[in-house]
Amino acid sequence: MLQAADFARRRRALIGALGPGCAAIVPASPVRVRSRDVDYPYRPDTNLLYLTGFREPEAVAVLVPGRADGEYVLFCRDRDPQRELWDGKRAGPDGAMEQFGADSAYPIDALDEVMPGLLKGCDTVHYDLGSNPAFESRLGGWLKKLRDGSRERNKAPVQVAALDFYLHEMRLCKHETELDCMRSSAAVAVDAHKRGMRRTRPDMYEYEVEAEIVYRFNQSGATESYPSIVASGANACILHYNENESRMRDGDLLLVDAGCELEGYASDITRTWPVGGTYTAEQRSVYEIVLEAQRAAIEKMEPGAAILDPHHAAIDVITRGLKRIGLLKGKVSKLVRDEAYREFFMHRTSHWLGMDVHDVGDYETDGEPRKLEPGMCCTVEPGIYIAAENSDVPKEFRGIGIRIEDDVAVTGSGHEVLTAALPKDPDEIEALVGSG
Ligand code: GLY
Ligand code: MN
Ligand code: MN
Repeated sequence: MLQAADFARRRRALIGALGPGCAAIVPASPVRVRSRDVDYPYRPDTNLLYLTGFREPEAVAVLVPGRADGEYVLFCRDRDPQRELWDGKRAGPDGAMEQFGADSAYPIDALDEVMPGLLKGCDTVHYDLGSNPAFESRLGGWLKKLRDGSRERNKAPVQVAALDFYLHEMRLCKHETELDCMRSSAAVAVDAHKRGMRRTRPDMYEYEVEAEIVYRFNQSGATESYPSIVASGANACILHYNENESRMRDGDLLLVDAGCELEGYASDITRTWPVGGTYTAEQRSVYEIVLEAQRAAIEKMEPGAAILDPHHAAIDVITRGLKRIGLLKGKVSKLVRDEAYREFFMHRTSHWLGMDVHDVGDYETDGEPRKLEPGMCCTVEPGIYIAAENSDVPKEFRGIGIRIEDDVAVTGSGHEVLTAALPKDPDEIEALVGSG
């Protein structure tokens, strides 16, 4: 569980990185309408959550390094007993200072009046450019007001810069307290997949397995970190399938890609199991290639390795495997060079994982694949997808889609598989499916 001290440490680190003469502005996400007068469940902006732990909408955090009256200012909704009766408790500016550690706090309605004064004397304003056009236009207004009203040019900010550079770097390398959150999120998702495996029976609908998985998330106070993919048969070849509405047939595989968000941290797991509890010979042969590829890729996860090393390891195993079962023909080195595997394995093996499922952080530095460092977390998720209409392959292979995805943290000496407790050995999976 993150404490006030964790958020204070993050703000201090960002303030230190920005230095004097800069300010960072981090607004809350807008509330989105689902339909008529019903909104989507509110998901706070990740940067704001990371820096403050504040979860209410209509808020703006401002960090001003060196500000005499305190470097952390939070704007938020004022207390309003009538609105709180309908919509729930608000911290209000007093709560922002007492519970969330703000040095100063103002009602959000005072934003236009107070903000120009906070930015006065700064030369650079950092902001998550492009993320919120309505807010960006307001920011433009404050800057114009300052410049128009300033006789001394150096009293008004002269540039707006991206905030990503500092903040994304901070978010990319996880602190020990964050790794604990990642472990907790992974543990819930592992349990949910086990529950899904146990409850699977032929002739059930995909959404019934989804319900078993989401039940386990919600039971732990977690939500889905992305719409769950529960794809039986050839649906598994649609990479982001999430209609989850087909009836599952005995003999088909079920690909489940589901993860949760717990206390702001995401997990992201895929397993592929047989609906009827037993892999066919062809399914098992493809499964074993993906499993070998995934294990080879995970082995590459260590400090100093490049983020693409696991992908290259997976490509090598998958190309050899597809050749072995007759789906690719030719010399392995040429097949790899020509990217022949892409017909069957068309996505990357890894993405950063953290508070967002596709987390922030550059994948390249100076044009080179990024080197892994302790605290970085990513998925390892190779797959093989054989289109149902691919008449170049034997019929038994058509419509097979298999992905195996684990969450991995880079440690000082190698890696920790956060989702290791979930079986992926085909015999162990067969023993679990339909057992509960
Ligand atoms: N669940 C989305 C992904 O695996 O990247
Ligand atoms: Mn996934
Ligand atoms: Mn993923």
